Amino acid sequence: MQAEYRQRRQQLMAKIGNGTAIFRSAPMAVMHNDVEYAYRQDSDFFYLTGFNESEAVAVLVPHHAEHQFVLFVQPKDREKEVWTGYRCGVDVAKEIYGADEAYTIGELDEKLPQYLEKADRIYYHLGRDRNFNDQILGHYQSLLRTYPKRGTGPIAIEDTGPILGSMRLIKSEAELELMRQAAAIATEAHNHAIEFTKPGRYEYEIQAEIEHIFRLRGGMGPAYPSIVASGVNACVLHYIENVRQMQDGELLLIDAGCAYGYYNSDITRTFPVGGKFTPEQKILYEIVLSAQKQAIAQVKPGNTFKSVHDTAVRVLTEGLVELGILKGEIDKLIEEEKYKPYYMHRTSHWLGLDVHDVGVYQHGEDKPQILQPGQILTVEPGLYIVPDTKLAEDQPETDPRWVGIGIRIEDDVLVTSNGHEVLTSSVPKEVDKLER
Ligand code: GLY
Ligand code: MN
Ligand code: MN
Repeated sequence: MQAEYRQRRQQLMAKIGNGTAIFRSAPMAVMHNDVEYAYRQDSDFFYLTGFNESEAVAVLVPHHAEHQFVLFVQPKDREKEVWTGYRCGVDVAKEIYGADEAYTIGELDEKLPQYLEKADRIYYHLGRDRNFNDQILGHYQSLLRTYPKRGTGPIAIEDTGPILGSMRLIKSEAELELMRQAAAIATEAHNHAIEFTKPGRYEYEIQAEIEHIFRLRGGMGPAYPSIVASGVNACVLHYIENVRQMQDGELLLIDAGCAYGYYNSDITRTFPVGGKFTPEQKILYEIVLSAQKQAIAQVKPGNTFKSVHDTAVRVLTEGLVELGILKGEIDKLIEEEKYKPYYMHRTSHWLGLDVHDVGVYQHGEDKPQILQPGQILTVEPGLYIVPDTKLAEDQPETDPRWVGIGIRIEDDVLVTSNGHEVLTSSVPKEVDKLER
C-alpha cells in the first residue's frame, strides 16, 4: 500500500505545481470527561499517507529539491506510550511512511516556513479547529509581510477539497478490494438480521447482532450509527435510539454499514417483522423497489449523477398519484416538489473513505456530473408517510391506511466500464424473498 500512497502524493503534487500543501490529522474526540473516542484518522490524511496517528501534519512540497514529503509527528515517549499506545516517532515516519524529512509536531512553527517561502500558494482545507487554522493563517500572514524582501512566497490559499475530491471519487483496485470487503461483511450482517428478527425482539438486539458480525469479520465497526427502526420509527430518517420492542404486523427498517480498512458500506433493507407484509406495506414497498431498480438501471458511464435521482423521484411520484396520496399532473408535481413530504432526501451519495464521500455532484447548474467507471454511489429511495405531515393546500389528506409506514431500500453501486455492479446485491429485496 505504501507505493499507492506515494503515487497519490505524486498525483497531487503534479496538480499543485509550485504550491505547498498542508494536511492535518484528525484530532482526538472526547466522549466524556477525560475519555476519548476510538481514534479515526482524517480521510484525506489517510488517503495520502496511510498514517493513523493524531497530532500529525503532512506537508507536500513538489518544488523542494529534497523534502517533497514532510511529516510532523508526535515524539516517541515511553511513558505516554504505556498509556495510549505506540507512536511511530520521526525515524519510523521516514522509514515506513516514506517521509523525506520528519520532525516532531512541536517543531511545526519553526520548520514550516522553509517549506512555504518559495511556494506561490498554500493548499490547505480550513478545518473545524479554528486554532490550527489560525496557526496556518499566521504563517501565511508573516510570509506576506516579508514577501517584498524575497519576491517569493504564497499570495493565495487554495482549498485542497476539490483536488482530493476528484482523486478520491475514482476508486483504485486496492480501494475496490476494501470496498468489496466492507460490502460483504455488511451483507452477511443484514442477511443474519433478517433471519433473526421476530415479533417481541427489541431493536437493540438486532443492532447487537449486526455489529457483532462487523467486528467478528475484522471490520472497524459501524460506518455510522446503525439505524434499526421498527413501525413508525422508520419515518425518522436517522433514528438511532433503537430501543423499541417490535410487533407483528410492522415493518423493520435497518440502515447499517460496516467500516473495513477505513472504507465504508451503507445498506438499507425494510422487511416485515412477522414475516408477512400487510397489503398497504406491500403496495408502498413495491413502489420503492421499482424506483430503486429503475434508478440503479441509470447507473452507467456517460449518464449523469442527477439522472439517478430524477428517475427515482418520477417512479415514486407516479406511485403516489396512483394511490391517490398525491393529486395532479406528474411533471407539475415533480417540478413543484410535491413528493417531498413523503420523500425528503436525495437518492444517492458518493461512498468511500467517508460514508458521504467527497466529490462534487455537479459542476455548476448546467454542467452535470457524469458517471465514470470507478465511482461508487448509493441508490437509496424511500417513502415515509410521516404522521401529522403538513401537506400543500392543493393536496388531499393522506388516507390513514398509509400513515406510519416508512420504507427505504439502499444498495452500493460501482460504475463499471459497461454499466454497473451492485456490491450489496446478496441481501434480498424482493417481496417473496423477504416474506417467511
Ligand atoms: N445511513 C446514512 C445514509 O444512508 O446516507
Ligand atoms: Mn446512504
Ligand atoms: Mn444508509
